[in-house]
Amino acid sequence: MADQQRLALEIFRYDPEADANAAPRYDRYEVPYREHWVVLDAINWIKDEVDGTLAHRWSCRMGVCGSCGMMVNGEPRLSCNVFLRDYVPGPVRIEPLQHFAVEKDLVVDLEGFMRKLEQVKPYLMRDDVERPEQGPYNQTPAQMAQYHEHSMCINCMLCYAACPVVNLEPAFPGPAALALAQRYNLDSRDRGKEHRLEAVGGEHELWGCTFVGECTDVCPKNVDPAGAIQKMKLEATKRWYLHLVQPKGAGR
Ligand code: FES
Repeated sequence: MADQQRLALEIFRYDPEADANAAPRYDRYEVPYREHWVVLDAINWIKDEVDGTLAHRWSCRMGVCGSCGMMVNGEPRLSCNVFLRDYVPGPVRIEPLQHFAVEKDLVVDLEGFMRKLEQVKPYLMRDDVERPEQGPYNQTPAQMAQYHEHSMCINCMLCYAACPVVNLEPAFPGPAALALAQRYNLDSRDRGKEHRLEAVGGEHELWGCTFVGECTDVCPKNVDPAGAIQKMKLEATKRWYLHLVQPKGAGR
Protein backbone atom coordinates (compact mmCIF):
# COMPACT_ATOMS: atom_id res chain seq x y z
CA MET A 1 0.00 0.00 0.00
CA ALA A 2 1.94 2.99 -1.35
CA ASP A 3 0.20 5.73 0.70
CA GLN A 4 0.51 3.89 4.00
CA GLN A 5 2.26 6.29 6.42
CA ARG A 6 1.99 4.44 9.71
CA LEU A 7 0.98 1.03 10.94
CA ALA A 8 -0.44 0.11 14.35
CA LEU A 9 1.16 -2.57 16.50
CA GLU A 10 -0.66 -3.92 19.56
CA ILE A 11 1.99 -5.33 21.83
CA PHE A 12 1.48 -7.62 24.81
CA ARG A 13 2.83 -6.01 27.98
CA TYR A 14 3.35 -7.72 31.30
CA ASP A 15 5.96 -7.32 33.99
CA PRO A 16 5.45 -9.85 36.81
CA GLU A 17 7.66 -7.82 39.14
CA ALA A 18 5.91 -4.50 38.62
CA ASP A 19 2.40 -5.74 37.71
CA ALA A 20 2.10 -8.78 39.99
CA ASN A 21 -1.53 -8.00 40.73
CA ALA A 22 -2.39 -6.52 37.35
CA ALA A 23 -3.62 -8.35 34.28
CA PRO A 24 -1.48 -8.31 31.14
CA ARG A 25 -2.41 -5.55 28.72
CA TYR A 26 -1.89 -4.59 25.10
CA ASP A 27 -0.21 -1.27 24.32
CA ARG A 28 -0.87 0.26 20.93
CA TYR A 29 1.94 1.97 19.02
CA GLU A 30 1.82 3.72 15.65
CA VAL A 31 5.09 2.97 13.87
CA PRO A 32 6.35 4.48 10.61
CA TYR A 33 5.49 2.24 7.69
CA ARG A 34 8.52 1.19 5.66
CA GLU A 35 8.22 -1.22 2.77
CA HIS A 36 11.52 -2.92 3.64
CA TRP A 37 10.99 -3.17 7.42
CA VAL A 38 10.52 -6.51 9.10
CA VAL A 39 8.35 -6.74 12.22
CA LEU A 40 11.49 -6.74 14.37
CA ASP A 41 12.49 -3.33 12.91
CA ALA A 42 9.18 -1.88 14.06
CA ILE A 43 9.58 -3.32 17.57
CA ASN A 44 13.14 -1.99 17.78
CA TRP A 45 11.88 1.42 16.65
CA ILE A 46 9.31 1.42 19.46
CA LYS A 47 11.95 0.48 22.01
CA ASP A 48 14.43 3.10 20.73
CA GLU A 49 12.01 5.97 20.08
CA VAL A 50 8.90 5.52 22.20
CA ASP A 51 9.15 3.12 25.12
CA GLY A 52 12.51 1.83 26.38
CA THR A 53 10.80 -0.39 28.94
CA LEU A 54 9.56 -2.80 26.26
CA ALA A 55 11.38 -6.15 26.61
CA HIS A 56 12.09 -8.47 23.68
CA ARG A 57 14.91 -10.73 22.52
CA TRP A 58 16.82 -10.58 19.28
CA SER A 59 20.39 -10.75 18.11
CA CYS A 60 21.28 -11.53 14.49
CA ARG A 61 18.38 -10.00 12.51
CA MET A 62 18.99 -12.61 9.82
CA GLY A 63 17.11 -15.74 10.87
CA VAL A 64 20.12 -17.46 12.40
CA CYS A 65 20.20 -16.95 16.19
CA GLY A 66 16.60 -18.03 16.80
CA SER A 67 16.01 -15.53 19.59
CA CYS A 68 13.35 -13.25 18.06
CA GLY A 69 10.46 -15.75 17.99
CA MET A 70 7.05 -14.35 18.94
CA MET A 71 3.40 -14.63 18.01
CA VAL A 72 2.57 -12.32 15.11
CA ASN A 73 -1.17 -12.08 14.54
CA GLY A 74 -1.54 -15.40 16.34
CA GLU A 75 1.14 -17.32 14.46
CA PRO A 76 4.59 -18.28 15.74
CA ARG A 77 7.10 -16.40 13.59
CA LEU A 78 10.66 -15.13 13.65
CA SER A 79 10.02 -11.39 13.84
CA CYS A 80 13.15 -10.72 11.74
CA ASN A 81 11.76 -12.96 9.04
CA VAL A 82 8.34 -11.40 8.37
CA PHE A 83 7.76 -8.08 6.63
CA LEU A 84 5.49 -5.34 7.90
CA ARG A 85 4.10 -5.02 4.38
CA ASP A 86 2.49 -8.44 4.74
CA TYR A 87 0.33 -7.10 7.59
CA VAL A 88 -1.00 -3.92 5.95
CA PRO A 89 -3.36 -2.32 6.87
CA GLY A 90 -2.89 -3.63 10.40
CA PRO A 91 -3.13 -3.54 13.31
CA VAL A 92 -0.53 -6.23 13.97
CA ARG A 93 -0.88 -8.05 17.25
CA ILE A 94 2.44 -9.07 18.82
CA GLU A 95 2.54 -11.53 21.72
CA PRO A 96 5.11 -13.75 23.43
CA LEU A 97 5.43 -17.31 22.17
CA GLN A 98 2.49 -19.28 23.51
CA HIS A 99 3.02 -22.34 25.76
CA PHE A 100 5.84 -20.57 27.63
CA ALA A 101 5.74 -18.61 30.88
CA VAL A 102 6.32 -14.88 30.39
CA GLU A 103 9.32 -13.27 32.05
CA LYS A 104 8.52 -9.79 30.79
CA ASP A 105 6.53 -8.51 27.81
CA LEU A 106 7.75 -10.59 24.82
CA VAL A 107 10.49 -12.44 26.72
CA VAL A 108 9.64 -16.01 27.68
CA ASP A 109 11.18 -18.40 30.20
CA LEU A 110 13.47 -20.92 28.49
CA GLU A 111 14.44 -23.02 31.48
CA GLY A 112 11.97 -25.83 30.83
CA PHE A 113 13.12 -26.05 27.22
CA MET A 114 16.78 -26.23 28.28
CA ARG A 115 15.97 -29.12 30.62
CA LYS A 116 14.20 -30.97 27.82
CA LEU A 117 17.16 -30.38 25.55
CA GLU A 118 19.51 -31.97 28.10
CA GLN A 119 17.13 -34.90 28.50
CA VAL A 120 17.64 -36.08 24.90
CA LYS A 121 21.46 -36.16 25.22
CA PRO A 122 22.17 -33.95 22.18
CA TYR A 123 25.80 -34.87 21.63
CA LEU A 124 27.84 -37.67 20.09
CA MET A 125 28.09 -40.67 22.40
CA ARG A 126 30.47 -43.60 22.08
CA ASP A 127 32.64 -45.69 24.39
CA ASP A 128 35.69 -46.00 22.14
CA VAL A 129 36.80 -42.37 22.14
CA GLU A 130 39.94 -41.97 20.06
CA ARG A 131 42.84 -39.72 20.95
CA PRO A 132 43.30 -36.60 18.76
CA GLU A 133 46.48 -38.03 17.17
CA GLN A 134 44.42 -40.93 15.82
CA GLY A 135 42.67 -38.46 13.51
CA PRO A 136 39.06 -37.44 12.96
CA TYR A 137 36.04 -39.69 12.74
CA ASN A 138 35.56 -39.58 9.00
CA GLN A 139 32.13 -39.43 7.45
CA THR A 140 31.03 -39.65 3.83
CA PRO A 141 28.72 -37.02 2.27
CA ALA A 142 26.00 -39.68 2.10
CA GLN A 143 26.35 -40.39 5.81
CA MET A 144 26.15 -36.68 6.59
CA ALA A 145 23.09 -36.30 4.38
CA GLN A 146 21.26 -38.72 6.69
CA TYR A 147 21.01 -36.17 9.49
CA HIS A 148 21.95 -32.80 7.95
CA GLU A 149 18.39 -31.51 7.63
CA HIS A 150 17.73 -32.14 11.32
CA SER A 151 20.93 -30.35 12.32
CA MET A 152 19.68 -27.02 10.92
CA CYS A 153 17.52 -26.31 14.01
CA ILE A 154 18.20 -22.89 15.56
CA ASN A 155 16.22 -23.53 18.77
CA CYS A 156 13.82 -20.71 18.00
CA MET A 157 10.99 -22.64 19.71
CA LEU A 158 8.38 -21.70 17.14
CA CYS A 159 7.58 -25.41 16.98
CA TYR A 160 6.81 -25.47 20.72
CA ALA A 161 4.42 -22.57 20.31
CA ALA A 162 2.72 -24.39 17.41
CA CYS A 163 2.51 -27.85 18.99
CA PRO A 164 -0.80 -28.65 20.73
CA VAL A 165 0.81 -31.40 22.85
CA VAL A 166 3.51 -29.24 24.48
CA ASN A 167 0.99 -27.46 26.66
CA LEU A 168 -0.97 -30.58 27.58
CA GLU A 169 1.78 -33.08 28.35
CA PRO A 170 4.55 -31.76 30.62
CA ALA A 171 6.73 -34.87 30.03
CA PHE A 172 6.72 -34.41 26.26
CA PRO A 173 10.24 -33.26 25.27
CA GLY A 174 8.84 -31.29 22.34
CA PRO A 175 9.54 -31.14 18.60
CA ALA A 176 12.96 -29.45 18.55
CA ALA A 177 14.46 -31.62 21.31
CA LEU A 178 13.22 -34.86 19.70
CA ALA A 179 14.38 -33.76 16.24
CA LEU A 180 17.79 -33.10 17.74
CA ALA A 181 17.81 -36.54 19.37
CA GLN A 182 17.07 -38.07 15.98
CA ARG A 183 19.80 -35.93 14.40
CA TYR A 184 22.34 -37.71 16.67
CA ASN A 185 20.68 -41.10 16.27
CA LEU A 186 21.24 -40.81 12.51
CA ASP A 187 24.87 -39.71 12.81
CA SER A 188 27.23 -42.51 11.73
CA ARG A 189 29.75 -41.46 14.40
CA ASP A 190 27.27 -41.86 17.23
CA ARG A 191 26.55 -44.94 19.36
CA GLY A 192 24.03 -43.39 21.74
CA LYS A 193 20.69 -44.27 20.14
CA GLU A 194 19.91 -46.91 22.77
CA HIS A 195 20.53 -44.41 25.58
CA ARG A 196 18.31 -41.76 23.96
CA LEU A 197 15.46 -44.18 23.32
CA GLU A 198 15.76 -45.31 26.91
CA ALA A 199 15.58 -41.68 28.09
CA VAL A 200 12.71 -40.41 25.95
CA GLY A 201 11.09 -43.46 24.31
CA GLY A 202 8.17 -43.59 26.75
CA GLU A 203 4.44 -43.16 26.36
CA HIS A 204 4.42 -39.54 27.51
CA GLU A 205 7.68 -38.57 25.85
CA LEU A 206 8.30 -39.72 22.27
CA TRP A 207 4.84 -41.27 21.96
CA GLY A 208 3.20 -38.11 23.24
CA CYS A 209 3.46 -36.77 19.68
CA THR A 210 0.16 -37.14 17.88
CA PHE A 211 1.61 -36.18 14.49
CA VAL A 212 -0.37 -32.99 14.03
CA GLY A 213 2.52 -31.62 11.97
CA GLU A 214 2.19 -27.95 12.96
CA CYS A 215 5.83 -28.00 14.12
CA THR A 216 7.02 -28.74 10.60
CA ASP A 217 4.70 -26.12 9.10
CA VAL A 218 6.13 -23.28 11.20
CA CYS A 219 9.81 -24.29 11.17
CA PRO A 220 11.77 -21.46 9.48
CA LYS A 221 14.65 -23.83 8.70
CA ASN A 222 12.71 -26.74 7.15
CA VAL A 223 13.93 -29.14 9.82
CA ASP A 224 10.74 -31.25 9.70
CA PRO A 225 10.53 -32.17 13.39
CA ALA A 226 7.31 -34.12 12.76
CA GLY A 227 9.10 -36.38 10.28
CA ALA A 228 12.08 -36.81 12.62
CA ILE A 229 9.77 -37.86 15.47
CA GLN A 230 7.96 -40.44 13.33
CA LYS A 231 11.32 -41.94 12.27
CA MET A 232 12.31 -42.10 15.92
CA LYS A 233 9.06 -43.87 16.74
CA LEU A 234 9.97 -46.45 14.11
CA GLU A 235 13.36 -46.94 15.79
CA ALA A 236 11.65 -47.28 19.18
CA THR A 237 9.29 -49.90 17.76
CA LYS A 238 12.17 -51.88 16.26
CA ARG A 239 13.99 -51.68 19.61
CA TRP A 240 10.92 -52.89 21.46
CA TYR A 241 10.52 -55.83 19.08
CA LEU A 242 14.18 -56.80 19.27
CA HIS A 243 14.07 -56.69 23.05
CA LEU A 244 11.02 -58.94 22.87
CA VAL A 245 12.65 -61.62 20.72
CA GLN A 246 16.21 -61.16 21.97
CA PRO A 247 15.88 -59.91 25.55
CA LYS A 248 19.60 -59.84 26.28
CA GLY A 249 20.94 -56.57 24.94
CA ALA A 250 19.21 -56.76 21.57
CA GLY A 251 19.50 -53.68 19.40
CA ARG A 252 22.57 -52.39 21.23
FE1 FES B 1 18.21 -13.85 15.10
FE2 FES B 1 15.70 -13.25 14.37
S1 FES B 1 17.13 -11.96 15.38
S2 FES B 1 16.70 -15.18 14.24
